[in-house]
Amino acid sequence: MKQALKRGIEVLQDPALNKSTAFTEAEKQELGLIGLVPDVAETEDLQLQRVMLQLAQKNTDLERYIYLVNLLDHDETLFYRTVMSDPARFLPIVYDPTIDEACLKFGHIYRQPRGMYLSMTRRGKVKDVLKNWPYKDVRFICVTDGGRILGLGDLGANGMGIPIGKLQLYTACAGVPPQYLLPMYLDAGTNNEQYLHDPLYLGMRKPRPSTEELYSFVDEFVAAVQEVFPKCCIHFEDWTGSDAVHLLQRYRDKYCVYNDDVQGTAGIVLAGMINAAKIKGTKLSDEKYLFLGAGSAGIGLAGLICSAMVKEGLQLKEAQSRVYMFDINGLLEDTRKDLFDFQKPYAHHHAPTPDFVAAIESIHPTAIIGVSTVGGAFNQKVVESMSRINERPVIFALSNPTDRAECTAEQAYTWSKGKAIYAAGIQFPPVRLQAQTFLPGQANNFYVFPAIGMAIFATQATRVTDEMFIEAAHAVADQVPSELLQQGLLFPLQSNILESEIQTAARVSKLVFDSGLARVERPSDMVSFIRRHVYKPEYALAIAPKSKVA
Ligand code: NAI
Repeated sequence: MKQALKRGIEVLQDPALNKSTAFTEAEKQELGLIGLVPDVAETEDLQLQRVMLQLAQKNTDLERYIYLVNLLDHDETLFYRTVMSDPARFLPIVYDPTIDEACLKFGHIYRQPRGMYLSMTRRGKVKDVLKNWPYKDVRFICVTDGGRILGLGDLGANGMGIPIGKLQLYTACAGVPPQYLLPMYLDAGTNNEQYLHDPLYLGMRKPRPSTEELYSFVDEFVAAVQEVFPKCCIHFEDWTGSDAVHLLQRYRDKYCVYNDDVQGTAGIVLAGMINAAKIKGTKLSDEKYLFLGAGSAGIGLAGLICSAMVKEGLQLKEAQSRVYMFDINGLLEDTRKDLFDFQKPYAHHHAPTPDFVAAIESIHPTAIIGVSTVGGAFNQKVVESMSRINERPVIFALSNPTDRAECTAEQAYTWSKGKAIYAAGIQFPPVRLQAQTFLPGQANNFYVFPAIGMAIFATQATRVTDEMFIEAAHAVADQVPSELLQQGLLFPLQSNILESEIQTAARVSKLVFDSGLARVERPSDMVSFIRRHVYKPEYALAIAPKSKVA
């Protein structure tokens, strides 16, 4: 909570209290700030004008990112006022695609600590380390071990940019108040040779441990969180595929945890599928899905799509029989000996097939979903094959960053002659083709996880379930107006993201109450209940009652 027990320079050094040039005369008097700040009392709008002016003088998005992070380190309210004033403009700067470069250069652009760094050398003392965090009521920890950052692989400590950025989106997109959020890096070393030899690298210079050692450390961390922050939900982010799935299986029925790569991605892609089916006039269970990539994102999505088809009336086995997967070693089929337990439900009876086009020609999918990290994998042959088989081929090229997208929007629309129903992991500009304008959607999980976060925050949910992500997917899908659907847009407009997430959070909250998972009393009106919890980027009164000031 914001409090005004600090005075003078300490107020200016606390980003949650600092108002920069907006302190009133009374506040300056009371807090001992006379002379420490310019003798003006600016409005928040005027401050925002200065930020925009300074941003306009930066030449690259990475410079704008560094500027904004620096602003956050000094004046949290002004940072969120800036980002929330124009989400469509600022989300790509504070998150992807700029975050890719920010992570790659994390040790080089580092200015100031944010969040917590917990290394395996602290084994046995994790609880004590967590107690060093200055805020006692933490509701979300976003944690990575840097194992698989975006599509960039093992970035070790450079991956810390991701939890920092993800948690900013909880606030910027869904209004979760920032003081409850804790970004965390679990340092288990790295196998990234480049960083191991970089003198400015900020992590442990050791190769990664065995899975057993890693999991026992994560066990200690998860148990310590329950004690130190009992209302906290742990959000796992950007672990390697098998760790992501296995750690989720390990904790999901015991604690309030979720994995955004597995469940959040699945939620937003499911929203896209729901709308693709709407455009085609079909149901999810009428479609046949072929994934390129069977890692954490692919497996999470396959599972959620199957759950959604079960809700439409299929048996689980029937639903799984409509999902095929293809990975680095070819089609998943029942003679393969290299599969993880969680991949086997999608390994059907089929001849070994190392060629993706051959798999399309044999399986006849209605939708292909790229989560492979392989840029350009949906080449012209792939798109043409899908377009020959389908009146409206669904083509989702979800890998990021930009150069990892399986195909661009322009390629998908051009090669399919405008037939493709397309979405990508990043935002491509509109495509003009034969007098028609297509609006490619960004299947970005920031439509889903902040809203799920807000629902958990408001209801104090004890668990995070797949049903919550299915409900979020339907809520997101329902918010796309039909005229935009006609132009191919599968997701709501980013410019209105806060309102969209409030509506989604309200629907998920209702489900949390219906499922008996809430720890607060059920409200009569779910939307106004959520609105009451939404953070507003406005300065709080900085003067404490007289008796509280030292
Ligand atoms: P992962 O590393 O767990 O899985 C990658 C999968 O791709 C593996 O099954 C691997 O065998 C397969 N693969 C690699 N090279 C291949 C090739 N040449 N041909 C066929 N398959 C190949 O990664 P994860 O977590 O599943 O993420 C995959 C991608 O999805 C990443 O680029 C990530 O950034 C992106 N993603 C996008 C999200 C979004 O919101 N759009 C959210 C989460 C992930």
